[in-house]
Amino acid sequence: MTESGTYNEYMSIAELYDHVVPYQERQDVGFFVEAAKESGGPVLEVGCGTGRVLIPTARAGVEITGLDLSPHMLEVCRGKLAAEPQEVRARVRLVEGDMRQFELGQRFRLVTLPFRPFQHLTTVEDQLACLGCLRRHLAEDGRLILDIFNPKMESLVQTAFGEELSEEPEFSMPDGRKVIRRHKVVSRDIINQVNYVELIYYVTHPDGRQERLVQAFPMRYFFKFEAEHLLARAGFEVEQLYADYDKSPYGSKHPGELIFVARKTKGEDRGN
Ligand SMILES: C[S@@+](CC[C@H](N)C(=O)[O-])C[C@H]1O[C@@H](n2cnc3c(N)ncnc32)[C@H](O)[C@@H]1O
Repeated sequence: MTESGTYNEYMSIAELYDHVVPYQERQDVGFFVEAAKESGGPVLEVGCGTGRVLIPTARAGVEITGLDLSPHMLEVCRGKLAAEPQEVRARVRLVEGDMRQFELGQRFRLVTLPFRPFQHLTTVEDQLACLGCLRRHLAEDGRLILDIFNPKMESLVQTAFGEELSEEPEFSMPDGRKVIRRHKVVSRDIINQVNYVELIYYVTHPDGRQERLVQAFPMRYFFKFEAEHLLARAGFEVEQLYADYDKSPYGSKHPGELIFVARKTKGEDRGN
């Protein structure tokens, strides 16, 4: 957040986001679209970003609200939506808001957080505030899908800080810019389970001009049991835990993902 209260983390890279090769290759869209169709809607996607999942969901005929704190990511999403047929646009509502504190005046049959927005929340207080908001917005028999990564032990003990690493292919923007992305672990706060990371975009313009854009952010990591305890504390019971978007069960691969499908704990009245 800046002093003026604007969330700028994605400002300089929002327009690049959809072109990043590993993002384009993610295998999660079908999983979330299928869950949305099964729920019947309406769906709330928290941290919807550029609409990578939200737009295919609306195309599949499901009503969906996207909440995101970044005006820059939402602007990209709006631009993409403008090119969609009217019936798709009519199924979408976009809201600029903070997942720790929002009120949409509506309940949803499915609430999702695809591709780890929850890991932007570094404190237990923020995590519980968010889960409380999600619970209030969930219909009685609705489902929550919390998508976080399973920490890889080997990576957590690596001490290579400050080194820019690159394993990704270069990508091109429609206007001819060429982009190479590298990543760097700036520091690890093992005590609080937070990695401070940077994604660094080296942009070469068609006229040869060079630019270096940096997205710097903290990434909180959770192990299975902590996430389960958090969900229980917030009034959720876990129905499924997948290691992948193909629904492989937890434990079938490592590290895999931690994809929790949860519902409100039965018989528990929290007044929401
Ligand atoms: C990695 S992106 C995921 C975007 C999208 N769900 C996808 O799958 O491509 C994380 C998103 O979370 C959003 N975000 C981060 N903190 C947030 C907060 N406190 N409230 C709402 N959105 C937030 C960011 O702006 C960003 O768009």
